Amino acid sequence: MNELNIMEAAAFTSPNPLALICSQNEDGTTNLAPICFVSYLSFDPPMVGFSAGKQSHTGRRVRETGKVILTVPGESLAGAVMACGSSTGASVHKAAEYHVEMKAVEGSDILIPADTKLAMVAALEQTVETGDHILHICRVEKFLGDAGKKGLFAWNGFGKAAPAAEG
Ligand SMILES: Cc1cc2nc3c(=O)[nH]c(=O)nc-3n(C[C@H](O)[C@H](O)[C@H](O)COP(=O)(O)O)c2cc1C
Repeated sequence: MNELNIMEAAAFTSPNPLALICSQNEDGTTNLAPICFVSYLSFDPPMVGFSAGKQSHTGRRVRETGKVILTVPGESLAGAVMACGSSTGASVHKAAEYHVEMKAVEGSDILIPADTKLAMVAALEQTVETGDHILHICRVEKFLGDAGKKGLFAWNGFGKAAPAAEG
């Protein structure tokens, strides 16, 4: 075996789970950021976690508002997902800039992309500093899914968003 760094290891675990994290900007619009550091954490109550870099606008807004929707983006969003990963909601209104059609979710002020396979409406419960990231531990209030859509995963580590082949 060869010794690897963490980026090379992430390529070995591809396709990696990919969430498009939806959070609320100060002006009420929704910010979008792809995050691969995401996992289920508990069945009962249903809990999920995601880890965001300390400078991340998404992390800051989720800590300020206590609210987030974690989504699995549909395949039409492959290009937009990568674009959302190379700009920050601190200065760019990503949904408008990258022409992502958004839709409302009942009971939430945060919008989600119209092409969404799974949405997890969640509330922040706890944060844990994890090296250069902050782990956000969230309780899921509602899961919404569309079985007819193909979800995106991250390939080649975090380098490309594409569906996973079955089998
Ligand atoms: C496929 C992919 C996966 C990513 N995964 C993470 C991640 O797990 N954690 C993280 O902090 N940033 C991750 N990023 C980078 C953020 O999406 C990027 O820093 C983005 O600009 C953050 O936007 P924000 O400042 O609006 O939150 C990823 C980017 C891509 C393209």
